[in-house]
Amino acid sequence: MRVFAIETSCDETSTAIVDIPTRHVLALTIYSQYAEHAPYGGVVPEIASRAHLERLPALTTDALTQSGLEWADIDAIAATVGPGLTTALVIGSTFAQTLAVSLNKPFWGANHIEGHALSPLLALPNTQTPALTFPYLLLLLTGGHCQFVAVEGPGRYTTLGTTFDDAVGECFDKVAKILGFPHPGGPAIEACATSGHSGIPLPMPKNDTSLDFSFSGLKTAVKDLMAKPNPPPAADVAASFQTTVATLLAKKLGHALMQTGYTQAVIAGGVAVNQTIRAALQATCQAHGATFTAPPLKLCADNAAMIAFAAGLRAQAGLANSPLGTRPIPRWPLDAMSTSQS
Ligand code: KG4
Ligand code: ZN
Repeated sequence: MRVFAIETSCDETSTAIVDIPTRHVLALTIYSQYAEHAPYGGVVPEIASRAHLERLPALTTDALTQSGLEWADIDAIAATVGPGLTTALVIGSTFAQTLAVSLNKPFWGANHIEGHALSPLLALPNTQTPALTFPYLLLLLTGGHCQFVAVEGPGRYTTLGTTFDDAVGECFDKVAKILGFPHPGGPAIEACATSGHSGIPLPMPKNDTSLDFSFSGLKTAVKDLMAKPNPPPAADVAASFQTTVATLLAKKLGHALMQTGYTQAVIAGGVAVNQTIRAALQATCQAHGATFTAPPLKLCADNAAMIAFAAGLRAQAGLANSPLGTRPIPRWPLDAMSTSQS
């Protein structure tokens, strides 16, 4: 089964083709709209939608060319229908639904978070499939989420802990803004931190074994630090902030492994590209005798391969995907994708 998919939930326009049984990405295109949103200090939905519309036709033919396949070789057309920016979701899902109708193929509307949750199982072209099987412990790190999820199979998700306030990516973005870096903040903080020292003490909860998160105190501490008459160099603040987040996530992952008994941990989402965070989590897994799987960087950030895969795995397991005519679903938690509730 081969699935062609479109992802347009935020500021990345992406198309992909995935071979579901072998878990291999056959083609993947990603256009990041960072430069178009940069002057506004954040993602502007109207600009995102126009950019998606402009890029989708070429990225669609690019994916087919990359794969060396014909439309006749594709079994279904998928697209993200939520969660995300409504107008951006409308563009991608309308494009995909029109493609499905005109090619007389099934349309499968997918949940973006389910895509991230299953992405660690995927392999890029000419690479080996990860030695990862269900069940696994997922630490989801995106611009909108910071969650521990027990992933037992397609449509079998249990949230074990989540954030009380900001998501981890949101915290990177807000701290970057305080430091005067452009949006999105994550890449800017990681780049700047390489020339800084991470010795500035920042608040971290003590004796906290819960699997929930809170990032607002950390963000406020950086704000207060930078409001002082002689603030420390931005690179030192970036390095200290990044190390604090990595340490906090690694501690929580240790507690999650001990409390659940899982022996496989994975990370997913845009923040999972961060090398300091990856290294800290890898070390925790090693200390707990658990395996650690981090998707290739291209598959951490928003991409259509995870959308094709999520829709394809659900179909393969006999689970429903959103049908033709589905409206965008701007808020759509992963728990809603669990089989008991669908
Ligand atoms: O998963 P994603 O691409 O989109 C959502 O579904 O939210 O995640 C985007 C988030 C942004 O907050 C961005 O600042 C963060 O991922 N991010 C990073 C890095 N690259 C992107 N955070 C830390 N370090 C990075 N290198
Ligand atoms: Zn995402």
